[in-house]
This record gives sequence, structure tokens and C-alpha cells, in this order.
Amino acid sequence: MKKNSFFKSGSGARKAFVSNFQDKTELKEFTDANNKSKIVDEIFHKSSENMEELENNSVSLTVTSPPYNIGKDSDLDLTDDEYWSMMENIFKETYRVTESGGRLVVNVANLGRKPYIPFSKYFTELLIETGFIMRGEIIWQKSKGANANFAWGSWLSASNPVIRDIHEYCLVFSKDSLKKSTQGESSLEKEEFMESTLSIWNINPARAKKIGHPAPFPLELPQKFINLYTYKNDLILDPFLGSGTTAIAAKLLQRNFVGYEIEEEYIEIAKNRLKKEVN
Ligand SMILES: C[S@@+](CC[C@H](N)C(=O)[O-])C[C@H]1O[C@@H](n2cnc3c(N)ncnc32)[C@H](O)[C@@H]1O
Repeated sequence: MKKNSFFKSGSGARKAFVSNFQDKTELKEFTDANNKSKIVDEIFHKSSENMEELENNSVSLTVTSPPYNIGKDSDLDLTDDEYWSMMENIFKETYRVTESGGRLVVNVANLGRKPYIPFSKYFTELLIETGFIMRGEIIWQKSKGANANFAWGSWLSASNPVIRDIHEYCLVFSKDSLKKSTQGESSLEKEEFMESTLSIWNINPARAKKIGHPAPFPLELPQKFINLYTYKNDLILDPFLGSGTTAIAAKLLQRNFVGYEIEEEYIEIAKNRLKKEVN
């Protein structure tokens, strides 16, 4: 006897399954008016919980990597509740300042092994609750073996072998509409477009010691997102600027930036890098 199928439309079962979910996603047909930012190429020495310097709907793209609260030098020393409440405030502010049709990319790794903590899941939930629409997820594969966790658990035994992550996530979102609502000039070539629209990116990690910050991401990471998702002269935000990698990527691609950072020492590093790496 022929089985009944739940999947009646589309060329494959999975396609129909996906489109059933898509029907439920609320996308705005018309987007709210955007504002041109008066703030250009500035770093603010303060917490991004309050970004009052920035107008509503004025940022085209945010690329950032949040601190984790696990005791690294660039981390915070908060309770879990304090940490998530701070993240909620910062991403609510990020939502407010993002253009209608603007984008957000959050780079995050899963952590811990006893048990494993799915940070990427927690951030995805937080950002969807904040109102962002998820566009996709990039798996950033760092060079094989680099930064892998070498606590094997059990060696050559099924007793307790530990999975060693060689990847991080870049969670990608939009505000209101998946389509950009402003016009402009793209700077993307065919080859890069083809590569950047695939869900796995191979990029070597940055050298923390050389940069002088404990957790920088490699320049190529924000560069690829900026080139893919923005036009020339758009405004790029990093609410956790650290050593300024996002700002450098923005300037090298003829975009503008704004950043927030609570540690003066890292702001100095960011300013020096900007002087050195951007003409
Ligand atoms: C993971 S690092 C970002 C590194 C950055 N992507 C780079 O390439 O250098 C997170 C940064 O957020 C900063 N930070 C933590 N809490 C903050 C807050 N409330 N507002 C602004 N910056 C904050 C930390 O000092 C740290 O430099």
C-alpha cells in the first residue's frame, strides 16, 4: 500500500517541510524609515547597554563577538542571571539602532565539557526573542586542530571520549525584512559571493598574543560579512569592539564604523591598529 505523505509541495520532502515553517515567519511588508547616523568612525569607552549616541534605525550591520563570563581576561565576572540580563539589554539596544532591513552577525563558540554548554543555542533564542529574524548560521571552521580542546577524556576507549571543537558559529539575523531597504554600491566579486553564501567558512584564527587582546577574531571574518551584507559607506557597529577588528574591516572596505568597549587598554590597541592597518 502506498504511504500517505505529509509533504505535498516542493520538489523534495525537506523543501516542503521548510516552507511550512516559513509560512509562520512574520516579515514586514513595509519597513520603518531609516535614519542617517551623525556618528561616524567613533569608539565609545562605555558599556553598550546604553548606545544613546546612536539614532534608531541607523546601523546597516552589526558584527560582534560577545564576552563569555568564564574567567578569560576579556570576560566578565557576573552571575549567570546578570550576564544574560546584560546581553538582553545590549541586543535590545542593537535592535533599536539597526536599520529596518539591517543585519546582525553574532560570533559565538559553544563551551565547557562537563557538561557542554550550547551558547549558540542560547544566543539564537535570545536574539529571536528580541525580535530579529534568523537568516542562517555560518560554521566557522578554524584550521584543523587549532585551538582544539586536548582533554581527550578517555584515550582510545569508549569510556568517555571528548569531542574537540574546531569550529565556532556566526549566527546571522535581519531586522523586519530579509531584504535590505536602502540602496547602494556593493563591492563583492562573483567568486567571493559564491564562497560567502556557503554555510561553512575555513578561516585561520587570529593570533591573540600578536594583537594584544585575549580573544580577537580574524580580520577576514568581519570582512566577509561586511562585503556580503552592506554597501559602501554603510555604518557597521561592534558593541564589543575589543581590539577593533570590525572597525578595521569596515574602513578597509570603505564603510564607516562605530564601536563600544569598556576596557581602555583595548581601545588603545584598536586605535593603534586602525592607524597602522588602514591608510
Ligand atoms: C570577545 S571580545 C571581542 C574581541 C573583538 N572581536 C576583537 O576582534 O578584538 C569581547 C569584548 O567585549 C568587551 N566588553 C565586555 N562587556 C562589555 C560591555 N558591556 N560593553 C562594551 N564592551 C564590553 C570586553 O572588554 C572584550 O574586549
